[in-house]
Amino acid sequence: MEIIGILTRDPYGWASTQLILGVRKYGLRPFIIRYKDVLVEIFGNSRKIMVNDINILEELDVVIVRPIGRSSLDQALYRVGLLYMMEDGGIIVINKASAIEKAVDKYRSLHILSGNGVPTPKTLVSENPNIIFRYLDRLGENIVIKPMFGSRGLGSTMLSDRDSIWRILQALAYNRNVLYLQEYLRHEYRDIRAFVIGDRVVACMYRENPMSWKSNISRGGIPKPMKPDSEIIELAVKSADLLGCEIAGVDILESDGNRYVLEVNSQPTWKGLQSITKINIAEEIIKYVLSRLKR
Ligand SMILES: Nc1ncnc2c1ncn2[C@@H]1O[C@H](COP(=O)(O)OP(=O)(O)O)[C@@H](O)[C@H]1O
Ligand SMILES: [Mg+2]
Repeated sequence: MEIIGILTRDPYGWASTQLILGVRKYGLRPFIIRYKDVLVEIFGNSRKIMVNDINILEELDVVIVRPIGRSSLDQALYRVGLLYMMEDGGIIVINKASAIEKAVDKYRSLHILSGNGVPTPKTLVSENPNIIFRYLDRLGENIVIKPMFGSRGLGSTMLSDRDSIWRILQALAYNRNVLYLQEYLRHEYRDIRAFVIGDRVVACMYRENPMSWKSNISRGGIPKPMKPDSEIIELAVKSADLLGCEIAGVDILESDGNRYVLEVNSQPTWKGLQSITKINIAEEIIKYVLSRLKR
């Protein structure tokens, strides 16, 4: 029987539970890997990734990766390194390490997306608050200041008052933050989340938030069904593909009749999306994983 690895911090979390049910539904066996249960053994040329006395490099063909999560620099590097080690050991890792690395880094993904013709918001990035402040007006009146490693809309702020912006930039730089500023794209307090698996958009929704310009579900966004047109599908699939994501939640904003890709989430959850679609997204993921195994 095929064993499907699920790398997760919380096996009892909603998405992991859905995946486990999906795996069982297809008559397969889930194998849960928690970072804290892992022991890596590198003895000369012999290497093992041990989880509960099992060397997963020998036992597993595929691992689905759930969010790496908030972590120290040590942990982030080690956890991504672990994915690379699995890949080197012949395991199919979804999403693969290089895709996660690119997608979680808003700066790097923006430069890849925009460099390949995907429309993105005008953005300034710098470590130096004085330089970025000097060029601020190039972004227009309203400025969005975002953490480079996003967290569900939390911490992104929109300001127009130059003195407030100056003070925030100084404080962020003092704390060694990289400054990541965008033009504010006027919109109707909603955005689009397209869920990509392989080369398909399997489900799509508007996220509407009457209370905030940020549409994240965790900021109060409400899922509304939407049927993606060909432009949305093309934008979402292309963006995911450019970053190497086989599974992705692509955020798209409509502003003045144009569509912009805001980001690609390489470890998306789908609880909100699942509430407005009949398609079982976890099962779609498992079906895709099986098709990858057969390739
Ligand atoms: N440049 C922008 N102009 C207007 N709204 C934005 C802009 N960037 C993000 N938003 C809104 O803020 C939300 C969060 O931004 P996003 O880039 O997806 O970061 P994260 O979800 O990682 O916090 C988006 O879903 C969108 O509603
Ligand atoms: Mg987002």
